[in-house]
Amino acid sequence: MTAKVALLIGSLRNGSFSRAVGRAIGELGAPGLELQESAIGDLPLYNPDLDGEAPPASWLRLRGEISKADAVLFVTPEYNRSVPAALKNALDVGSRPYGRSVWDGKPAAVVSISQGLLGGFGANHHLRQSFVFLNMPVLQQPEVYLSNVGTLFDESDKLANDNTRTFLGTFAGAFADWIARTKTVPAKTD
Ligand code: FNR
Repeated sequence: MTAKVALLIGSLRNGSFSRAVGRAIGELGAPGLELQESAIGDLPLYNPDLDGEAPPASWLRLRGEISKADAVLFVTPEYNRSVPAALKNALDVGSRPYGRSVWDGKPAAVVSISQGLLGGFGANHHLRQSFVFLNMPVLQQPEVYLSNVGTLFDESDKLANDNTRTFLGTFAGAFADWIARTKTVPAKTD
């Protein structure tokens, strides 16, 4: 069975390497995964005061998309050794109103990237910290920290590194298996 996977990109930048990596994973044609990006750049900063009878339309859109998805794939850079604010805001928006979190029980996986050597480790693990509270079962292995990401693509933004393509294929296969095994995690405890 094919799992519908919401793809959340932690960068709002037009030429984002994170988005290029997310697109490349989708184009691998991994059996069992169908990726669809959920936009996060138009979400007003989460404010409970706005979450009454008429919450912002983009909040409702995101919540609907995540609710319908079987799983969520996060592809993100690291900002100041942590999760980019836009992505953290998306987590916050989806987690409320209290008791109606759309993240609850959703299988997840994280890919972090950097143009330097560290592969976005800080963002990757700070995201995982939030997943504990959000009750999201997250794929543990293989971990994906893509360093020197600027060297992996050719001029037409296609993944040009065979080792990375093979590795991402292994990751995508493991994620598909993980979704199949964890999709039935029971709902909310908070
Ligand atoms: C960065 N960058 C960065 N890189 C890193 O490895 N560790 C870090 O802590 C940071 N911090 C940071 C803060 C801010 C505000 C910006 C704008 C950038 C660099 C960043 O990861 C790099 O530019 C990525 O290529 C951005 O991802 P996208 O936009 O290519 O997906």
